Amino acid sequence: MKNIINKKDWWKDEVIYQIYPKSFNSSNNNGVGDLNGIKEKLFYLKELGITTIWICPIFTSPMADNGYDIADFDGINPQFGTMKDFDNLLKECKKLKIKIILDLVINHTSDEHRWFKQALCDKNSKYRDYYIFKEGKHPPNNWRSIFGGSVWEKVVGEDCYYLHIFDKKQPDLNWENKQLREELYQMINRWLEKGISGFRIDSITFIKKNADYKSLPADGIDGLVTCKHKTRNQPGIEVFLNELKEKTFEKYNCMTVGEAPGVNYTEFSNFIGKDGYFSMIFDFHYADIDVESGSDWFKRTNWTTKEFKSLLIKSQQALQKSGWGANFIENHDQPRALSKLVKKDFQTPESAMGIGSMYFFLRGTPFIYQGQELGMINAKRDNIKQFDDISSIDNFYRGIEEGFSEKEALNFVNMRSRDNSRTPMPWDNTKYGGFSNYKPWLEMTEEYPSVNTIKNTVFDFYKKMIFLRQNSKISSILKTGSIQFLSDLSDNIIAYYRELYGEKIYSFTNLSPTTEEITIPKEIIKIYLNTHTNKVLGKQFKLVPYQSILFK
Ligand code: GLC
Repeated sequence: MKNIINKKDWWKDEVIYQIYPKSFNSSNNNGVGDLNGIKEKLFYLKELGITTIWICPIFTSPMADNGYDIADFDGINPQFGTMKDFDNLLKECKKLKIKIILDLVINHTSDEHRWFKQALCDKNSKYRDYYIFKEGKHPPNNWRSIFGGSVWEKVVGEDCYYLHIFDKKQPDLNWENKQLREELYQMINRWLEKGISGFRIDSITFIKKNADYKSLPADGIDGLVTCKHKTRNQPGIEVFLNELKEKTFEKYNCMTVGEAPGVNYTEFSNFIGKDGYFSMIFDFHYADIDVESGSDWFKRTNWTTKEFKSLLIKSQQALQKSGWGANFIENHDQPRALSKLVKKDFQTPESAMGIGSMYFFLRGTPFIYQGQELGMINAKRDNIKQFDDISSIDNFYRGIEEGFSEKEALNFVNMRSRDNSRTPMPWDNTKYGGFSNYKPWLEMTEEYPSVNTIKNTVFDFYKKMIFLRQNSKISSILKTGSIQFLSDLSDNIIAYYRELYGEKIYSFTNLSPTTEEITIPKEIIKIYLNTHTNKVLGKQFKLVPYQSILFK
């Protein structure tokens, strides 16, 4: 079957590997990953079979939020290397036919950005209006920032506050200012001119703020309320998003994947439809199933597979109806999927393959986060001092403020911390896992001597999955076929088929710790993947905990 993906939609053909540069590979062995470190490992990625890499922010930054606080959009963070190193990486990638997409952080900058510094030191500078300042002796309202505390920070020496949805070192840009928008568009186009293939667009649903700036009833004992109600996906955002697309992305036919929390399924066609703002978006409806609201980790849920399945189905149906999805089970803000989705006693390489196979063949472009292909699990930390991530530290203290003991608060943070996925990549079993000779900036996960890239069965399995999607006889079905979920099965079984021209490929996963009996109307003709050793044949078979099969 030949490839039927339209050239314009080239990004449907990709398998994307997400790199957290600080933790990927330290070429100069100083304990911090860098661009040359990525270059050294391109053969590893090529062997895995991925076609595009998404690199988290590499720009000049004081690293308060590990690069999501940009001080110069056009400069490379010296920790990561130089522009020459980036150009070399791009060149090497081209040779190996690996595309690069970068992280585009345009909701905010660092407070160390030249624009913000100008805005602070000269009230009459044009840059004052590039940000959101409000005069007054008190914070203008009770909105809570995503990383805790008020969204308002007092300007030293003035009766005035500036807005930050995230950390106080990440002041929000004022998208209402046309000149600012133009500067951003030019910067985006400069990067596209360099030859990158697109962007992952950070926190993009936050760029429009509700102009009333009014307080709301508090939702925590800090007397504050999540700012999301007034700052996320607000009416009017469509004007900015359309303009952004028209003045940049569209001209280059680049790929764009929006980090778009807070978008209802009814609005998906605006975001990813034929004339949507982006090629695809990440949908967080099921990714955040273990916590009630993405940023309050102490609000844990007792989620069931039934609920997970129902959210997954809704998500896939909405994506199929409107456009294309960006499928993921891990990223740099999420815990390890094996720790989140699989019960403690079953966190084995086979289960890592099981959850991998469950999501990898969904309809859309699959994303793999570094280390996911090794079956990594969360790190165990017994002191808040061992954490680096600002939101982990905030959640620890908020948990305590909300009445939990230190032990409980630490437990929430251990389960959800963003540092779980940010631990250095374990390349081998030598000291510091071959990531660096010098002590890494963040502790390795304890398992690294046995869970690393040497002889790893999960890696081999991911390689097979990628091969099946990209280069096999069933590639077209797996890439472009429609998706349909099967409903008359146990709540614990996630089952779907992909169909193209009447040909169907089935994926069945037992996302539970109990063995499940399955009966299907037609006999299995061919098994493409089986994560476990028990044989699966005929019309009736058993799936052991976390087993996944792909068959015809
Ligand atoms: C996004 C990023 C996250 C970052 C935040 C602020 O959610 O994924 O890592 O902290 O935006 O830029």
